[in-house]
Amino acid sequence: MLISLERVTHAFTGGHELFQPITASFARGEMVAVTGRSGAGKSTLLAILAGSLRPSSGEIRWSEECRVCWIAQRPRGVPGRSALDHVALPVLATGARRLEAERRAAELLDRVGLSGASSQPFETLSGGQAQRLMLAQGLAAAPDILLVDEPTAQLDQRTAAEVDAVLGLLAAAELLVMVATHSAATRASCSRELTLEHHVPSE
Ligand SMILES: Nc1ncnc2c1ncn2[C@@H]1O[C@H](COP(=O)(O)OP(=O)(O)OP(=O)(O)O)[C@@H](O)[C@H]1O
Ligand SMILES: [Mg+2]
Repeated sequence: MLISLERVTHAFTGGHELFQPITASFARGEMVAVTGRSGAGKSTLLAILAGSLRPSSGEIRWSEECRVCWIAQRPRGVPGRSALDHVALPVLATGARRLEAERRAAELLDRVGLSGASSQPFETLSGGQAQRLMLAQGLAAAPDILLVDEPTAQLDQRTAAEVDAVLGLLAAAELLVMVATHSAATRASCSRELTLEHHVPSE
C-alpha cells in the first residue's frame, strides 16, 4: 500500500466538513478518478494526499520514502524555455548528469507524444501540449504517486482525448495515479473511482 486513509475529511476554519470521511487504501499500479460535484473537496483531498494540507480529522499514512508529485490544474512553465528543458530539470534534480537528463527527458517527451515539440519554447505550446508536458515533467521526478488536478478541464474534446491517452499509459506504469476530474472520458480511463460525498452536517 502506498497511501492509506482512515476516516479522513477536512473542514477549513469556521466551515463544516467538506465530504464524508474516507477510509481507503491505494496501491501502486492503480489509477483512481477522484470525483464529486464542484466544491466537493477534490482539490482539497489532493492537497491532503500530497502532504501539503493536514486533514482536520482522520489519519493519513504514506509508505516509507514514497515520492509524491502534484500537478496543478493550470500548466505552468517558463515562457522562453524549451519543452525539453522543462522535463530535464527535475531529472537533473534527481542527481543525473546533463546528457543523461536530456536523454531521459527526450524519452519522457516521446512517451507523452511531444517528441516533435521538444525544442519549442513553452509559450508556443498548445493547451493540450502544455498539459502533456506537465505530465512528462511530473514523471521526470520519478514519483511513486502522481496527483493530477483536472487535466482536461480546459481542453477541447480532441485535445482532452490526447491527454486521457497519456493518463492511460501512466496507469500501466508502476505508480499510483490519482486524478481529480469531472470528465466521463477521464473517468473511463481509470481503474477505480473515489466519489466525494457531500457531508450532511447534523443540526
Ligand atoms: N484555503 C481555503 N480556505 C477556505 N476554504 C477553502 C479553501 N480552499 C478551498 N476552500 C473551499 O472548500 C471547498 C472545496 O474546495 P475544492 O477546491 O477542494 O473543491 P473541488 O471539488 O476541487 O471543486 P472543483 O470541482 O470546482 O475544482 C470549496 O467550497 C472551497 O471554496
Ligand atoms: Mg478542484
